[in-house]
Amino acid sequence: MNSIFLKKIVTKKGKEVVVRYPTLDDVMEMTGYINTLSREDTFITFSGEQITLDSEREYVIDLLKRIEKGDAVNMLCIVDGKIVGIAGVERKISSRNRGMHIGIFGISVGSEFRGEGIGQELSVAVIDEAKKKMPGLRTITLSVYKPNEIAYALYRKLGFIEYGTLPQGILFHGEYVDEVEMYLKLM
Ligand SMILES: CC(C)(COP(=O)(O)OP(=O)(O)OC[C@H]1O[C@@H](n2cnc3c(N)ncnc32)[C@H](O)[C@@H]1OP(=O)(O)O)[C@@H](O)C(=O)NCCC(=O)NCCS
Repeated sequence: MNSIFLKKIVTKKGKEVVVRYPTLDDVMEMTGYINTLSREDTFITFSGEQITLDSEREYVIDLLKRIEKGDAVNMLCIVDGKIVGIAGVERKISSRNRGMHIGIFGISVGSEFRGEGIGQELSVAVIDEAKKKMPGLRTITLSVYKPNEIAYALYRKLGFIEYGTLPQGILFHGEYVDEVEMYLKLM
């Protein structure tokens, strides 16, 4: 299956990274990537549970439809044929017509590849792509767990502004921690 290539980036350690849209051929690799992150129990919603190939295939089929409709963009970062990062923006359809101008941002980079500039390059690429491919998008929002200082620093650098906190909104490593909400105005 052909994938849409977006760009190539070079990490701070000189590794070449391909940034491209996912295809159905990526389902197995994406499942492995998510399950590894989930086992790591890091700052994402998965905290150890493992997803099946079938559920990931359903998710990707639906995601590809939403990309086609202009309701999502999603990018994989690939090094030597291996997924090392995933990021996306999804239109907030839960508020129906009243929230269609809002996109929700998410990102992760595999533990062995963090701190090399991939997160920043990928974020910029995905946000630029969302501006081009998601008609009517005006604002991008995200949630970050308070102890996740690296992500918070990255988002501030990208121009995201904090607008609220849900005290103890997240159960993380056995403790209730604050969930911080941020936004980026596109227009
Ligand atoms: C957050 C995450 C996506 C950042 O990706 P990354 O590739 O490690 O980030 P980058 O190397 O591009 O660094 C971007 C910025 O983040 C901050 N940062 C990165 N590593 C850092 C570190 N070890 N300490 C402090 N800040 C750090 C810096 O501001 C950095 O910019 P700089 O290099 O100009 O100083 C990645 O750490 C990750 O996937 N973490 C686990 C999952 C997660 O937290 N997802 C986000 C949920 S909200």
